[in-house]
Amino acid sequence: MRKFLIAGNWKMNGGAEFASDLLSSIKEHKPAISEDVDVLVCPPFISLSMAIDQLHETDLLVGAQNMHQADEGAFTGEISAKMLVEAGCSYVILGHSERRAYFHETDQLIHEKTKNALAHDLAPVVCVGELLEERKSGDHFNVVKGQVQAAFDGLSSEEAVQIVVAYEPVWAIGTGETASPEQAQEMHAFIRSILKEHFGEIADAIRILYGGSMKPGNAGELLQQPDVDGGLIGGASLDAESFVSIITTAESLS
Ligand code: 13P
Repeated sequence: MRKFLIAGNWKMNGGAEFASDLLSSIKEHKPAISEDVDVLVCPPFISLSMAIDQLHETDLLVGAQNMHQADEGAFTGEISAKMLVEAGCSYVILGHSERRAYFHETDQLIHEKTKNALAHDLAPVVCVGELLEERKSGDHFNVVKGQVQAAFDGLSSEEAVQIVVAYEPVWAIGTGETASPEQAQEMHAFIRSILKEHFGEIADAIRILYGGSMKPGNAGELLQQPDVDGGLIGGASLDAESFVSIITTAESLS
C-alpha cells in the first residue's frame, strides 16, 4: 500500500551548471520511471526553478531542502512554503539533522514548519534520528520518539498521512557507515508504532524513508525491510549512475 519514494538531498552542492548536468544525466540514464516508485530531487534553492523547468514532462518530482515557518514578512534570506509551491515544488525536507545541529532548529520550530508546509499542500519530509552517543547510551528510541511526537503533535490523520518521515541516524550521515538492515527495520517499525498510537491504521500509509550512506551496494537490503519505504540519499544522489541504480533497485522490489 506504500509506494517507494527515492529522494535525493543535494545539500549545498553544485551551482546551476552542475544541477543542469546532473538532471540531464539522470534523465538520460532513466528516461522512464515505473509508476510504482516516486522519485524526488531536492537541489539548492537557487536551482529549483531551473530544475522544475528541466524536469517538466518527466516523472521526477522537485522539492526544497528547507523553508521558513511564516507565509511572508521581514525575514531576510528566507523562503516560504507559498513561494516553493508557486515555483512548482511538491515536497520540502524539514528538520534535517544538519539544520538541527548547525542552525539550532528545535522540535518546536520543525513542528511549526511542518504545519505551515501542510497548510500550503507541500508535503513535508520530516527528518529524525539519533546521535552516536545517544545510540551508545541506549537512548535512541526515546530521542526519535520525542522528535516524531513533536513533529506530528496535534495533527489530524488527513494531515499526518501527507507527511513522509525520514529516519537518518546522525552517525550514518556522510560517514560511509550505514545502519544495518535490522537496525533500520527496528527503528522504522518503532516509528510506525508511535504513529499508530496517534493515528491508528492510517500509520500504515505513512512512508518512512531511511537516510544515511544509502548507496547502490546497500540499497537493496535496506529497501527489502518491510517498514523501509524508500531512501533519502545525500552523497550518492550527486552521481547520476548511483542515484539511478537505487531507483532501479526500488523498481525491482515494487
Ligand atoms: P549521505 O547519503 O551522504 O549519508 O546523506 C544522507 C542525508 O543526510 C540525506 O538527507
